[in-house]
Amino acid sequence: MRLIVQPAQRALQGRYRAPGDKSVSHRAAILGGLAEGETRITGFLDSADTRATLGAMAALGASVSEADGEIRMQGGRLRAPTTDLDLGNSGTGIRLLTGALAGHPDLHGQRVRLVGDESLSVRPMGRIIEPLRSMGAEIDSVDGHAPLTLSPRPLHGLRYEQPMASAQVKSALLLAGLNAEGATEITEPGISRDHTERMLPAFGVRLQRSERGCRLDGQQRLQGTFCQVPGDLSSAAFIMAAGLLVEGSSIELAAVGLNPTRDGVLRVLEAMGASIACEPTTGADEEPAGHLRVSSCRLAGLDIAPEWVPLAIDEFPVIMALAARAEGTTRIRGAEELRVKESDRLAVMCQELSKLGVSVSEHADGADIAGGRVQGGQVDSHGDHRIAMSLAVLALAADGPVEIENAEWIRTSYPGFVDDMRRLGADMEWGD
Ligand code: S3P
Repeated sequence: MRLIVQPAQRALQGRYRAPGDKSVSHRAAILGGLAEGETRITGFLDSADTRATLGAMAALGASVSEADGEIRMQGGRLRAPTTDLDLGNSGTGIRLLTGALAGHPDLHGQRVRLVGDESLSVRPMGRIIEPLRSMGAEIDSVDGHAPLTLSPRPLHGLRYEQPMASAQVKSALLLAGLNAEGATEITEPGISRDHTERMLPAFGVRLQRSERGCRLDGQQRLQGTFCQVPGDLSSAAFIMAAGLLVEGSSIELAAVGLNPTRDGVLRVLEAMGASIACEPTTGADEEPAGHLRVSSCRLAGLDIAPEWVPLAIDEFPVIMALAARAEGTTRIRGAEELRVKESDRLAVMCQELSKLGVSVSEHADGADIAGGRVQGGQVDSHGDHRIAMSLAVLALAADGPVEIENAEWIRTSYPGFVDDMRRLGADMEWGD
């Protein structure tokens, strides 16, 4: 489907509540299904990706019900599903579940096949398959890609130094470690989001953390608990970007997750000249959250240091969109991981920005973007939700209307995006 966005004629104003955090929702669904007894989840993200993970847990035997905006799960006893587990577009879903199931005792001697859509089937799975195999896992893949066929069996713990900062790899190994004999210890070259390390102790798991890693003992059981999912900063980032770009705008964002391993986008926006007022909310246990306020301002280009990359990994498409309207050049380096997301985000953003007249040059591990005027035109999401939303936000500051093809992929993480943007005053509508 095509999304048609008109250049903004008026300021964006209002109070905004972000949808539930995608990463935290995936983890709550998986741990809720693994844990004995009841898990209650509030703020769960209603999106194609997180529904796929919840559906997979139900197919594995967890009972799932929903009432009054709360999800209730009864887990703790898994059975082999009668059909393939379809994780759709979700890298987090397939990687975390592969780890969780690879050694699960209820599934020993059985088979579980995990599949995904076209995009997920070309994303690298070797990064989890190799370390899981060295724990004793039996996993068949198609040349390091999904479909993945697991033959769950007993595992042993592992000491592993990840070659890249990746929360998905770390979390897959931690979840596998829960079923292993002995300890699993993981270190990373940089800081990746720590939602799994924060959530596991709430389910009764003993886990030790160090500066660059974490460790847990195997054969631990999980106990159901209450999970409060905060608003998704990655989704809120599109709204913040729109507020920064459209002159005269002022938007209040309520209860957004502010996990310090995840909030690099705020640092980047501030370094571009944005002033973002932040009021932390109390009562957030595992995941810190707060209210934010953004107002439009002139943005300046900047050099983004490689160590900032994992802290804002999902926000680079929208940062690149903002860079197109900033004064001066933005240089991104050390961001080669962007090439293995829902699309090759470096190549795709450079390609689509240049269609709108933006001057860009692509590098193996980043891009240079010269800010200035942005023309109207036709662009494509390449099946990537964050590319679609980044281009939609930039379109508000373009000289003419922008049509975004294949924008329906927005549903994977943020089905309410267009309605929320309209409510704040943006002019965007679905074409056919
Ligand atoms: C995620 C981790 C990141 C991120 C993804 C969600 C997670 O991926 O890009 O959208 O929930 O753990 P990597 O860990 O592969 O960098």
